[in-house]
Amino acid sequence: MTDSADKSTFKGNAVVTGANRGIGMEVCRQLLQQGWRVIACVRDQQAGAAAIKQLRADTGADAQQLILRRVDVTSMTDIRSLSRWLAEVGFQLQALINNAGVFLESAAAGNADPLQVEVTTMLQTFNINTLGPLRMVQGLVDNIAAGGRIVNVSSGMGQLSDMGDNHLAYRTSKTALNAVTVVMARRLADRQISVNACCPGWVRTDMGGAHAERSVDQGADTIVWLATATEADGSGGFYRDRARLDW
Ligand SMILES: NC(=O)c1ccc[n+]([C@@H]2O[C@H](COP(=O)([O-])OP(=O)(O)OC[C@H]3O[C@@H](n4cnc5c(N)ncnc54)[C@H](OP(=O)(O)O)[C@@H]3O)[C@@H](O)[C@H]2O)c1
Repeated sequence: MTDSADKSTFKGNAVVTGANRGIGMEVCRQLLQQGWRVIACVRDQQAGAAAIKQLRADTGADAQQLILRRVDVTSMTDIRSLSRWLAEVGFQLQALINNAGVFLESAAAGNADPLQVEVTTMLQTFNINTLGPLRMVQGLVDNIAAGGRIVNVSSGMGQLSDMGDNHLAYRTSKTALNAVTVVMARRLADRQISVNACCPGWVRTDMGGAHAERSVDQGADTIVWLATATEADGSGGFYRDRARLDW
């Protein structure tokens, strides 16, 4: 099948990383409900298969609309393989959602204190939260259509204008992701590809915990809006609740 053959069937093709749980899974659900084809990327096939089963049951998506691919965002081999597959099946992307992320510091582990955090934790966090999205952009840029949108799921914890005194690895990985966002927005302007970052807010997921303020539905809203809405047409911005945030 080629993209031109089935273009009319779906509103667009979206790649979502970290799609097997939390905000990523909800982003997939909302895109499917809006009539998009979703290529759900997971690093664990088994967890991915369970998520796909649930998403199909919830949305009625068939095997054409919801497709599972194994992608660990630390692996350029996985990302290149996804890029080759997209080209082979003729799917151009209208949206790339870099959602996968980790939060490796905690008071319990004793590494939430910036004076205690290990360099290995800093490196691991950067490798996933900052370099993961960078690899995805570098590896998939030729699969993204003109007019396509890249959404980097960042965090208010990376906001320089509102820094705390803890969780240095996570915070700086997201600050750096914001910088990647701005640089890529400028670099990809001539291809008419927009690149934005957003904060989902504090969301009830494995990462956010049970006491977080927001549902996954609320957390996914601005991400999906940036990926799909005609009025979300800027590039190089940082958003929460569909409104610009300070860096
Ligand atoms: N929850 C919040 O309050 C909150 C607030 C601000 C920003 N965010 C951001 O929102 C995004 C999603 O967070 P969440 O709350 O949904 O987290 P989550 O429930 O912990 O889910 C994280 C997802 O990322 C995936 N992932 C981790 N490392 C990966 C890798 N190397 N390759 C591919 N996938 C990987 C996980 O896959 P596995 O299941 O295989 O581990 C999982 O699917 C993250 O970027 C996070 O920083 C969350």
